[in-house]
Amino acid sequence: MERQIYGNLVDSLRGLEDGKEHLKGAHLGNALSQIKLNLPPNSWVGLYLVNDGQLVLGPFQGTPACEEIAFGKGVVGACYEKRATIMVEDVTTFPGYICCDASAKSEICVPVFKGEEVIAILDIDRPDLHDFSNEKEEFEAIAKLLENWL
Ligand code: SME
Repeated sequence: MERQIYGNLVDSLRGLEDGKEHLKGAHLGNALSQIKLNLPPNSWVGLYLVNDGQLVLGPFQGTPACEEIAFGKGVVGACYEKRATIMVEDVTTFPGYICCDASAKSEICVPVFKGEEVIAILDIDRPDLHDFSNEKEEFEAIAKLLENWL
């Protein structure tokens, strides 16, 4: 994956940072759309939001997905508990993997922090077996930007 593509994407997402409260939801939707469309092939891109002691499906781009995930469950819940990015090159190898979309083959989950607190998980599925290690930092930078609109 070209670093330039990430650079362009981050620049474009920064362009959405305008501090307008009423546009936060719109910016989130547009940001997730850009991540899905500009970094192909992502099959699903979305956020799980910490809500009432669990992770609840927030804005996303892709097929319908599980609405509630308990802390510690699946890749999303494990990411919340670990407070760190989890990269899964082959989802069939991840114990307790929650399958929402049969086309997903690999997945990366990145925590979104507000201060010290994890407030959401950015979840990205790909339709191929994929080693995310070269893109980890870029996705973490993107997750930081998304925090502006949560
Ligand atoms: N696969 C995730 C569930 C969410 S979907 O990928 C949208 C997991 O194991 O937590």
